[in-house]
Amino acid sequence: MTELTVTANKSNSNNLLRRDIRFLGNILGEVLVHQGGNELLDIVEKIREASKSLRAVFLPELHEEFKQLVNTLEPEIRHQVIRAFAIYFQLVNIAEQNHRIRRKRDYERSAGEAVQQGSIEASVKDLKERGFTYEEVQDILQGMSLELVMTAHPTEAMRRAILDIHKRIADDVMMLDNPTLTFREREQLREKLLNEVITLWQTDELRDRKPTVLDEVRNGMYYFHETLFHVLPDVYQELERCLSKYYPEHYWHVPAYLRFGSWIGGDRDGNPSVTANVTWETLRMQRKLAVREYQRILTDLFKYLSFSTSIVNVTDELLSSIEQDSAQVILNKTPEWTNEKEPYRIKLTYMTEKLYNVLDSSKKGTPAQYSEPEEFIKDLKIIDRSLRHHYADYVADTHIRNLIRQVELFGFHTATLDIRQHSKEHENAMTEILAHMNIVENYSLLGEPDKVKLLEQLLNDPRPLTSPYQEYSENTTECLEVYRTVYKAQQEFGKKCISSYLISMAEATSDVLEVMVFAKEVGLFRQEADGSVTCTLQSVPLFETIDDLHAAPAILKELFSIPVYRESVAAMNDLQEIMLGYSDSNKDGGVVTANWELRVALKELTATAKEFGIKLKFFHGRGGALGRGGMPLNRSILVQPPQTIGGGIKITEQGEVISSRYSLRGIAYRSLEQATSALLTAAVAARLPEQNDLYEEKWEQIVAGISETSLHKYQDLIFRDPDFMKFFKESTPLLEVGELNIGSRPSKRKNSDKFEDLRAIPWVFAWTQSRYLLPAWYAAGTGLQQFYQNNEENLKIMQDMYVNFPFFRSLIDTLQFAIVKADLVIAKEYANMCDDPVIKERIFGQIEEEFNLTKSLILKITGVEEIFDHEPALQESIRQRNPYVDPLSYLQVQLLTELRSLRAQEQDDAVLLREVLLTINGIAAGLRNTG
Ligand code: PGA
Repeated sequence: MTELTVTANKSNSNNLLRRDIRFLGNILGEVLVHQGGNELLDIVEKIREASKSLRAVFLPELHEEFKQLVNTLEPEIRHQVIRAFAIYFQLVNIAEQNHRIRRKRDYERSAGEAVQQGSIEASVKDLKERGFTYEEVQDILQGMSLELVMTAHPTEAMRRAILDIHKRIADDVMMLDNPTLTFREREQLREKLLNEVITLWQTDELRDRKPTVLDEVRNGMYYFHETLFHVLPDVYQELERCLSKYYPEHYWHVPAYLRFGSWIGGDRDGNPSVTANVTWETLRMQRKLAVREYQRILTDLFKYLSFSTSIVNVTDELLSSIEQDSAQVILNKTPEWTNEKEPYRIKLTYMTEKLYNVLDSSKKGTPAQYSEPEEFIKDLKIIDRSLRHHYADYVADTHIRNLIRQVELFGFHTATLDIRQHSKEHENAMTEILAHMNIVENYSLLGEPDKVKLLEQLLNDPRPLTSPYQEYSENTTECLEVYRTVYKAQQEFGKKCISSYLISMAEATSDVLEVMVFAKEVGLFRQEADGSVTCTLQSVPLFETIDDLHAAPAILKELFSIPVYRESVAAMNDLQEIMLGYSDSNKDGGVVTANWELRVALKELTATAKEFGIKLKFFHGRGGALGRGGMPLNRSILVQPPQTIGGGIKITEQGEVISSRYSLRGIAYRSLEQATSALLTAAVAARLPEQNDLYEEKWEQIVAGISETSLHKYQDLIFRDPDFMKFFKESTPLLEVGELNIGSRPSKRKNSDKFEDLRAIPWVFAWTQSRYLLPAWYAAGTGLQQFYQNNEENLKIMQDMYVNFPFFRSLIDTLQFAIVKADLVIAKEYANMCDDPVIKERIFGQIEEEFNLTKSLILKITGVEEIFDHEPALQESIRQRNPYVDPLSYLQVQLLTELRSLRAQEQDDAVLLREVLLTINGIAAGLRNTG
């Protein structure tokens, strides 16, 4: 197929997307009539038309008319209207997701001729064309590592029940593409879809209580069960297929370079519900999930492994392993086989029983169970060899190899769980313990050098610090209990179940050492008598404010210079993990400075570690929303300086990102294949001689200047304007967002009104809902202007940077997204809720001015007349959505106004609050990150 036909097909398939949206829209129309009569459909249509005309030409009279229309709806009809628009977005999102899968399939049908951009095949082909040898490719694969870490961050507004309905609708819509459907089948499908949308209409999209942590754990595990267990091996298989295609003379078995981890049930920062017991229970649930999954697959294998010794010769190795099993394993839970001549089925029976015994602590350490996943793999390999012995290679390739891969990836623990806690909590516990032991009266009051000296001494001292006879406060007891649990868990579930302990708001060397001292206390870190060091838990600092990012290289240097700490890193293969927080740095310093400082820190930390012969694994803590570092997975890899990803890379996946990337297997596959392709591309870049050094240095200086000016501008408003917090609280739905029941953790770290204690998620969430999207662009204009100075020469430099400096390009592209999604006309409606007109005028005016400046400079740099002129499909998607989001925004303002005035009179507000929350859900679905 030529490029031309691919393009033709693309526009043809875009028609299909429009067809699906129209089709689902019509079904929704029928549901509206069914549930609310023609009257409902008419009013929804009227609002939609009015909103569209307003978007086409903004006329003040039209605007007033539109507001009037929306604001005079009767409460009952208003409720229905909100839901109609919100559900419409859910359907559009489904159609868009399906369309992504469809596009991939279009490419695959053209197999071999057109290779889809970002596919694994495209990257492997590129390796080959660049002349990489087999050995070099092997080296790349050995060094590649990506861990995606699911968190329970409260950003998924959608309930599981709703997501399940979406999944069913998505499957049905996909079926409509099947050309062999009969007329009757098509009708039945439509009927089914209509009823699914009715079910959606009749299902409450709001949770009536906060989820518990274990609910969140179950929710996270759903994705492993439904998607990841199946898709991850497919991605590996595809990589191996491509490698064999382009390097046919070699056998390929790709090492485990792509894995999933989790924070759910381990992240206790600001969430008192995540106790040591919960962490233990999480690990048990994760083990059960993996083991049950393998049992299910073994049961399935029964069907495929019916080979009889009357006909084939199996290996002696298989027969003797069965003999051994029969001597060691008693079948309690697994039914016996029926045919003595089918050895595979006999073997599978024993294996199933041994898996049952993995979950049975009374069998611990006996040969009746698999004490570790490797033993299970060993059995699978015995089967694999035997199958090949009698030429049943196909069965071995498709079933056994796949299962081996699954066990390699998911072990008996499904996902490695990280622990996270705030640095202050450790300091408090340490203070109490040291006071009890009379070591120091008040540890927290010591200066940093004294703390470091003391902690180093404690690490070198084999004596314990705590005693079972001592009573500690509840917090300190819990803090210690977590470490004990980690120790026990590593014994029970294997070392891979937990290996990193993250410290939020790490700002000093002592923060990292405190965790090591606790680890030592419970045996996770030991200096043996012979001088050797064992360390099975790494202390991982999370740097998240601009000041902390600045301080990070010096902290690392100090840490690595402490012999006992250096040894602990040596015990972890000379690898240190470092986490960087995108959201909090953004909240602290604004988008330009955060991005810039993160880059500087990445490079400096890498250089520092290199001096000590240590590799760093960077853990990027980013969210899905703009303003919290959100961007597509592959871009978040490609934007890193290539030399900083040598030790592997970890990235958080949270909330709405998890459901949008991993609910449908096709989408999950595409995201993971793009990530794989990005890893390969980055590995190639890291091997090329560094280019443009001189230019890059000059460009970096320019960005450093832009960042400095931007930081001042940002902090002048956020930290130094005394009226800013009032404006923020009154002109965004900050407080109401906190009432959404979307996560088990409180929305503030402490019960305080301080900006510092507000978490980054509600900060960004509130600005997104109110359409300002301020965290995603504010202060960028002033920063850029500082360099531009209305000088054409400077503009040319920035244009050149946009084309040739990937960091700058990515920054400007992110800003483009923010600017095109923000809407200051609507934001102004929110500003009107601020009860002090002077404050409102002043602060809104300042925001508006900065918005206009930012927009104009971005247009100049990218050289277009309207944002995204060069990406018409994206522009179109955003334009299509706006007329539907707008009514929800106006309704939200009206509802917030009513709700707040009722609350001011201390009146009951449950119904109104529900309505507000419905608009929040609807707007969240409507503004979904396009990519
Ligand atoms: P945190 O996450 O508040 O848990 O550190 C911030 C975010 O993801 O935005």
